[in-house]
Amino acid sequence: MTVVALVPAAGQGTRLGLDVPKAFVTLKDRSLLERAVDGLFASGVVDEVVVMVPSDMVDGARALVPRARVVVGGAERTDSVRAGLAAAGDAELVLVHDAARPMTPPAMIVRVVDALRAGASAVIPVLPVADTVKRVDADGAVLATVDRADLRAVQTPQGFTAASLRTAYDAAPGELATDDAGLVERAGGTVVTVAGDPLAMKITTAFDLRVAQALIEE
Ligand code: CTP
Ligand code: MG
Repeated sequence: MTVVALVPAAGQGTRLGLDVPKAFVTLKDRSLLERAVDGLFASGVVDEVVVMVPSDMVDGARALVPRARVVVGGAERTDSVRAGLAAAGDAELVLVHDAARPMTPPAMIVRVVDALRAGASAVIPVLPVADTVKRVDADGAVLATVDRADLRAVQTPQGFTAASLRTAYDAAPGELATDDAGLVERAGGTVVTVAGDPLAMKITTAFDLRVAQALIEE
């Protein structure tokens, strides 16, 4: 079954606050985008990679990741994933993997694809939540303590049969989601979990970038 990985890399990285879009920020001389794409190919379970970038970064991205197909992303992450899906051709299995997770271990990518090959139609890598979590009101007053045992933090790559992901996106035109599996859930699909990995952390803030730099120096 052909496995195509879509890599949303068209965000601006506002919360990171540097002068280049986040996917083009470097960690020890290699961009987050290169690291994310290399990890996908290193897994050995991905046939093709489609990268979605800002329109003015297309040439730059082609030079950085020559093995990937580069297309223009959209204003929101969901728009970028739609653009990638349109370029995914006859993929049977589709992974969606943020460029912002440059240290994702290839073994974790294999776990996602193995679960798809075992028959799941949507798969997400997850970690237990370490902190106690409270629900608060608009003023910050505590309403409730949420049972942490039932909670999981979600990473990428998320894996889908192409049919389930296309159906979910078609069912929710114009809808925004931070998470592709969320759209599959809304469309009535079943989503299963596999073990994530702390190294698949998302780089969102300057602090995250410092943590990643320290880990990569190790
Ligand atoms: N992304 C995308 N297209 C968008 C917005 C985000 O392809 N219009 C991608 C980002 O490039 C990133 C991933 O989706 O790889 C996860 O998004 P996020 O961490 O929020 O990155 P940014 O949107 O770039 O960051 P910020 O929200 O701080 O601006
Ligand atoms: Mg964003």
